[in-house]
Amino acid sequence: MNSLKLTNLAFAYPDGHQALFGVNLEIKKGERVAVLGPNGAGKTTLVLHLNGILNGSGEIEVAGLKLNVDDKDNLLEIRRRVGIVFQDPDDQLFMPTVREDVEFGPFNMG
Ligand SMILES: Nc1ncnc2c1ncn2[C@@H]1O[C@H](COP(=O)(O)OP(=O)(O)O)[C@@H](O)[C@H]1O
Ligand SMILES: [Mg+2]
Repeated sequence: MNSLKLTNLAFAYPDGHQALFGVNLEIKKGERVAVLGPNGAGKTTLVLHLNGILNGSGEIEVAGLKLNVDDKDNLLEIRRRVGIVFQDPDDQLFMPTVREDVEFGPFNMG
């Protein structure tokens, strides 16, 4: 079972910059993987695809579930499984205390 499978993922930013092209990746259940590369290699662009924040071409499967950004239920299910921590904490934190900030996700998942 794959926890993640990318098939032929490609993405160009609106200015035409092709950040990803022909990306194939399989991560098996239980594996821990670090994606390494220099600044501008496309790590952030790749990760932002994993829960549909960015939407390129190709196929993305999370725990056997195919990502479909046009299907709201699908997107919700994927986002329960793929959490992203942003690089700059100021983009991420928005509650007045650490406790409330940490609580926000689980609270909204019931
Ligand atoms: N909003 C954007 N518009 C145009 N090009 C971008 C944008 N964000 C990133 N890029 C370009 O896409 C490539 C990959 O960037 P990025 O995914 O941020 O790389 P990394 O996270 O590995 O440093 C770089 O060449 C970068 O300049
Ligand atoms: Mg980055």
